[in-house]
Amino acid sequence: MSKSLQAIRGMNDILPEQTPLWRYFENSVARLLDGYGYRQIRMPIVEATELFKRSIGEVTDIVEKEMYTFDDRNGDSLTLRPEGTASCVRAVLEHGISGGGQVQKLWYIGPMFRHERPQKGRYRQFHQIGVEVFNLDGPDIDAELIVLTWRLWGLLGIRDAVKLELNSLGTSEARATYREALVAYLSARADQLDEDSKRRLLSNPLRVLDSKVPETQALLTDAPKLADYLDEASRLHFEGLKARLDAAGIPYVLNTKLVRGLDYYSKTVFEWVTDKLGAQGTVCAGGRYDGLVEQMGGKPTAGVGFAMGIERLILLLETLEKVPEEIARQVDVYLCAFGDAAELAGLQLAERLRDQVPGLRLVVNAGAGSFKSQLKKADKSGALFAVVLGEDELGQQVVGFKPLRGQGEQQNIAWDALAEHLETSLQQG
Ligand code: HAM
Repeated sequence: MSKSLQAIRGMNDILPEQTPLWRYFENSVARLLDGYGYRQIRMPIVEATELFKRSIGEVTDIVEKEMYTFDDRNGDSLTLRPEGTASCVRAVLEHGISGGGQVQKLWYIGPMFRHERPQKGRYRQFHQIGVEVFNLDGPDIDAELIVLTWRLWGLLGIRDAVKLELNSLGTSEARATYREALVAYLSARADQLDEDSKRRLLSNPLRVLDSKVPETQALLTDAPKLADYLDEASRLHFEGLKARLDAAGIPYVLNTKLVRGLDYYSKTVFEWVTDKLGAQGTVCAGGRYDGLVEQMGGKPTAGVGFAMGIERLILLLETLEKVPEEIARQVDVYLCAFGDAAELAGLQLAERLRDQVPGLRLVVNAGAGSFKSQLKKADKSGALFAVVLGEDELGQQVVGFKPLRGQGEQQNIAWDALAEHLETSLQQG
């Protein structure tokens, strides 16, 4: 027998039982972003490989070992996007919509691809909702991004479970001076470094700060601190951000070792982390990237943004049991019809109801079946009410209106009165 076909490791189906929670989450974020004046942009999933090399950085884990890269039939090297910022910058530049200092407040949603080792909260295809803002260089907009995520955590009921970590990386010049100091310090102690950090010391020394190895972390305790090398403008920017977060009452911790795994950041970087999900605890992360647009061939343009991992936030909602009860119900009414004539009348009645009650979630029984089996299906659908149509009802132009969740007795309702009766009953739940 041939081997059964399976989804690619680390790439998951999202089954019908799970999609209501996904939609609830996605709709909550979309409504929130609408409320702050952000507009959605949709970019392709595949881009030229060069785009990610130039933006994320050649010496990053993502570009070095995690990209899904292939040659297409023309021999062009293409990559499944590992993140959205690079594509968004490309799109904004290509369409000239950030030229002349035009402010753009954009958001996107979709799958991203990284060939990482799959585990809980870490997948090879995962989904992000990302936000990018162009041409605003002050700390007010950095603060707004954090304020709106804080509001989202409030709406979802998960504020107590997440913590904001904050750092400033300064300008690239300030970082270069710091890098020299860090390299000097670490080089003198290179024999005590783990293999990965030794390699990074040569290629991308700031990433040593990110090391998970305890001995390397111990070594870093007395290492030069990035905060001491910040240029004046970055320092003021960071103070401005902190003052706004204080004013908004948003708690944060300063983490001088927070450098992020992508090279394009400058000044503000932040991560929302939780200790409820195990090793993959960052649910949302981002920062400022004022040099990126220019680096990609555009005019100097300020940029700042973040992306949240949908899978991780869904996991967190489930772990904390913050899944709203009402999203479990997908169906309001189930229409059962017995016999050919009733089935035809049922079809007409159902379409009329859909005209009369906007947003009604009505399932019409398909595949006939006995009275008992149809009612069983009605119950299983989760509907609040069954509308029953048999020969008797047909003759009297009524339906049997049967509450399925213990809200009273079945009664006959005239066809003409059904829409109104249904609306009232649904309002009462
Ligand atoms: P990132 O930190 O690479 O940043 O990813 C953002 C978020 O995506 C992470 O915090 C995490 O929640 C989720 N995520 C990342 N990798 C995986 C994975 N393998 N499985 C599941 N979830 C994952 C960026 O992507 C930047 N583009 C964010 C940004 C936007 N910075 C500025 N603008």
